[in-house]
Amino acid sequence: MQDKKINIAVDGFSSCGKSTIAKGLAKQLLYTYIDSGAMYRAVALFAIRNGWISDSEINEEQLRQHVADIRITFKTNQQGEQETYLNGENVENDIRTLEAANGASRVSTLGFVRKALVEQQQLMGKEKGVVMDGRDIGTVVFPEAELKLFLTASPEIRAQRRFDEMKAKGEKPSLEDVLANVKERDLRDTTREESPLRKADDALELDNSAIGIEEQLQWAIGMFNKITTKDEQN
Ligand code: DC
Repeated sequence: MQDKKINIAVDGFSSCGKSTIAKGLAKQLLYTYIDSGAMYRAVALFAIRNGWISDSEINEEQLRQHVADIRITFKTNQQGEQETYLNGENVENDIRTLEAANGASRVSTLGFVRKALVEQQQLMGKEKGVVMDGRDIGTVVFPEAELKLFLTASPEIRAQRRFDEMKAKGEKPSLEDVLANVKERDLRDTTREESPLRKADDALELDNSAIGIEEQLQWAIGMFNKITTKDEQN
């Protein structure tokens, strides 16, 4: 394996398997995986718990004043899975609810929230050797990332995947609600003013609607090898 570490950006729509590929890559390459969506979810949870998010609005002033008090860290548990901590508390389960997902989609439209999180994410990638997934990793967080992947899949397939995940956790969502949520978030993620979701010009796109995880991972490793070998030859 090559010595020189690079940063890898994995972007795409919600529930299109970004984290599976990003985690798989990190594991194989012995890189650090960072789930940037978990950071937006943790900010949303902080705001929800403080009563700053209602159905109709967000108390932006309160959130702006306290955004610097939000400390997000990651720790690996005994099963080797990464868990998210909000000011020292393990919030991994609490940030995975539909409420937190919706809150995250909403707080992520706020410029001051993005600025605070992007700064932290850039620090995490300073030493390289990071695989980060999200929406703006290849465009804003690591525009210089040596490898950028952009994953897509149809909304119906993504909703089914999210539905299956939620059911496996004992939740009882309706497929209709999950699909509506996926579409609502797609619209918000792609049309927001601040860093909307878009493919970086130099990102490699993969529609994984009909491709299994192993095959995607092999494709990604192949791209990694191509890039790092090319770098070594230069
Ligand atoms: O990937 P996810 O579903 O956990 O992300 C939660 C929300 O956070 C999603 O609606 C979009 C937002 N997000 C973002 O705006 N930028 C990122 N880099 C990651 C997530």
